[in-house]
Amino acid sequence: MRDSQEIKKIADQYGTPTFIAWKNVIIENVRRFREVLCQYRGGSTLCYSAKTNPQVAILKMMAEQGISAAVCSVLDTTAAFRAGFSGERMIYVGLVKTDEGLEIAVKNNFRIINVESYDEVTRLAKIAEKHNKKVPVGIRLSFPSKTGIKSLLGVTYDRFGASVKSGEARSIAEFIVKNPHLVLEGLHCHTGSNQTNEKNYLIGINHLVDFMRYLKEKHNVSISILNIGGGIGVPTIRAYSLVNLGVNFLKNMIGRPLRHVSNLQFSLPAMMKRIIDHLHQTLDRHNLSHPHLMMEPGRALVGDGIDLVTRIVNEKRTEIRKWYMIDGGTNLLPALTLFSESHDITVITDNRDSTMEKLSVAGPLLYSADIVATNRFLPKARIGDLIVVHDVGAYCGSQSNQFLYPRAATILVSGNTSTVIQKRESVEDVLSRDL
Ligand SMILES: Cc1ncc(COP(=O)(O)O)c(C=O)c1O
Repeated sequence: MRDSQEIKKIADQYGTPTFIAWKNVIIENVRRFREVLCQYRGGSTLCYSAKTNPQVAILKMMAEQGISAAVCSVLDTTAAFRAGFSGERMIYVGLVKTDEGLEIAVKNNFRIINVESYDEVTRLAKIAEKHNKKVPVGIRLSFPSKTGIKSLLGVTYDRFGASVKSGEARSIAEFIVKNPHLVLEGLHCHTGSNQTNEKNYLIGINHLVDFMRYLKEKHNVSISILNIGGGIGVPTIRAYSLVNLGVNFLKNMIGRPLRHVSNLQFSLPAMMKRIIDHLHQTLDRHNLSHPHLMMEPGRALVGDGIDLVTRIVNEKRTEIRKWYMIDGGTNLLPALTLFSESHDITVITDNRDSTMEKLSVAGPLLYSADIVATNRFLPKARIGDLIVVHDVGAYCGSQSNQFLYPRAATILVSGNTSTVIQKRESVEDVLSRDL
C-alpha cells in the first residue's frame, strides 16, 4: 500500500479529486517486463500501448526508459511525438486508421503499421506511393473469439483484425506482396485485456505461426516481426465474472459484502515464461526461424502506478446500507461502471476510532451506475476524510469525461518531489468550446 501521509499531503496541497502517479512503480513495471521478454531467443521490443494513458509526462517516462510506443490515433501519436518518441520507435495499431493518421505514420517512418482490413491496406498503399516510400506492414489477425454470454448481448471481438477464415487476411497478404510500396514484415494479434493466465496467448501464437507457414508456402515471405499484443493483467484489478455478478446480485439484495473475482494470484514472470516457451517450441516444431517479438502492454505498465484520491463530501444511511459520496466517481473512473472492474479502496482518516464499518461509496454524478465500491469493510470514516481508489492508471484518466464535473489533475510523485503533470480542468476550460 502507498504512503497515506504522502497522499494526504498531496490532497491538501492540490485539492481533490486528484490522480497520483507513482514514478517508481511505473519504471519498475517496465523493468520487470523487459527482463522477462529477454528470455525470447529472437530479440524483442517492448511497446507501451499509449491509449492506456497518453499523458505526455507518462509517455516521456516510457520514452526515457528506451521502449517504443504503440499508437492508434492522431491524438495519441501527437502526444507520443511531444514526449520525445521518434517515428522509428512507434508502431501504428488500431481499428480505424484515418488517412491523416496513416500519412503521419508513413512520413515519419514508423517501425511498422499493422493493418486490419483490405480497405485500410489499399488506402495505405496510395499514401505510400504518394510519398514514394516502401512501408513495413503487419497484418493483425482476428480469431473467432468466444466471449460467453456477453456475445449474446452483441459484445464480440470479431471486428478487430483481419479474419483468416473469411479470407480477408489472405487477400490483404496478397495485396501487400504484389505492391511495390509495401513490405509484409509482421503478424499481429491482441487476444484480450486483464488476462491472468496464458491460455489466449497460446491460442494466438498458434494462429500466428499457422499464418506464417501459409505465407512462406504461398508467397515465399518470411515474417520478421511477431506482435502478440498487450493484455497482461494486474492482480489487484479484478474483473467480475458472470458467476460473480450473479452471486453478487443475490448478496446485494440482502446487503452482504460482494465477492471479487477469482484468480487474483498470478505471476508475470511465470506467465510470460510459459508464453515464450510455447512460442519457441511452436516455431521450432515448424522449422521456422525466430522472428523479432513485439508486445504492446498498457495496463501491466501503468495500471497499478496511479491512484485517485477523493474526499468524502456527504454521507447517507438508507434502509439498505451506509453510503459515502465522494467528489470523483465514474466520470474519472469509467472502467468501474456497471461492476466491470473492482479496485481496492482505502480510507485516510484522523479518526482514532478503529472500528471497521460496512461502507458503500458513490461518486457525485446524478447517474445510477456511479458506484465506486459496494459493501466494503473499512475503518470508520467522516465527512472530509479521504478515500483512495487504487491502481486506476489504465483506461481511467484517458477515458475520463466532463459529465457534470471538469476532469481531475494528475500529480507525479518521484522520490520526495511531487509535480503537476496534468492541470486540473476548470469550468471555464470545459465551457470554452461552446460557441
Ligand atoms: C491492439 C491492442 N494492443 C494493446 C492493447 C493494450 O491492452 P492492455 O492495456 O490490456 O495491455 C489493446 C487494448 O485494448 C489493444 O487493443
